Amino acid sequence: MTFSDDGQTNCQYSALLEDLQPDTNYEYRVTGSKSASDWHPMHTPPLGSHSYTALIFPDSQSSDYSDWSALAHTAWQRHPEAQFFINMGDIVDNGEDHTQWQAWFDGVEPMIAKIPFAPIMGNHETYDQNWKVRLPEAYLHYFDVPENQSATFSRYYYSFDHGAVHFIVLNSQWDETNDFKPGLLDEQLAWLKDDTQKSTAKWKVVLIHKDVLQYRIKKRPERKEGISAVGRAFMPLFDELGIDLVLTAHLHTYRNRGRLYDKQPSTDKGPLYILTGVAGNVRYPNLWTGHAFDKVVAPQPETDNYLTLAVTDSSLTVTCFLPDGQEIDRACVTK
Ligand SMILES: [Fe+2]
Repeated sequence: MTFSDDGQTNCQYSALLEDLQPDTNYEYRVTGSKSASDWHPMHTPPLGSHSYTALIFPDSQSSDYSDWSALAHTAWQRHPEAQFFINMGDIVDNGEDHTQWQAWFDGVEPMIAKIPFAPIMGNHETYDQNWKVRLPEAYLHYFDVPENQSATFSRYYYSFDHGAVHFIVLNSQWDETNDFKPGLLDEQLAWLKDDTQKSTAKWKVVLIHKDVLQYRIKKRPERKEGISAVGRAFMPLFDELGIDLVLTAHLHTYRNRGRLYDKQPSTDKGPLYILTGVAGNVRYPNLWTGHAFDKVVAPQPETDNYLTLAVTDSSLTVTCFLPDGQEIDRACVTK
């Protein structure tokens, strides 16, 4: 498949690997008529419940992707056991700029050749070169995520299982897409219910770019803290569906809010809500004030950070690290 964007034509190839055996080592390579890539090792996970680690990167949007590249490399070196990695959206600063996409892909080599990647769409994926909103053409072409059976919003949101976890990737960009095609939120509310209720996985984890809380901004006293539009739309359904963990991004700050139920802190009900931080060079020092629901905030002013999600039969553990490997927070859900 070819697609043209930002004056460039890209050839994009997809291959679906079927009948793979669980817990087995494979090798693969990409060949053309005159050349071939190196062979890459690939290990399939065991069937069913098993313990594993995934790497999670917050917003990587940058003016210069060297910090992003350094963070991705150091995180993968420290966690070579990671079975796949996630980027929480705002993958690039400008969703049309092909040089940024190339810099992002260069930054995750060779990790992306060796372990799978789960992308999440952010609002910056919908920006054109003039910083006007458009549909996220490049994002939709680059990432061949699982189908969601939507005629209108194929690849905008999706779900997948890994071990005993059902990962639900939602899309918070209905403000951006409504002018082009309406219905992204309503469609997802129905899909989320159906998709989650069909799943028999022990754990259910939601990944969504924009945060569920609204933070006050220093120098803007009229903006009150509370629940954001995303929170108002989805938090009641997360409670109803028994979601265990919700990871968000967009605000470029790490905050652990503990468990929330009925839009209030709870000791024993509702999902654990983690706002994941920042992984590129776009930082917002001293922008946000605290929120009454914050339990842990990264040291200020913030540097980059990355997270691991460790899954066992009885726990989900999210650990947040600074670029030098220093652990700054650890949060756990057990059942
Ligand atoms: Fe964002």
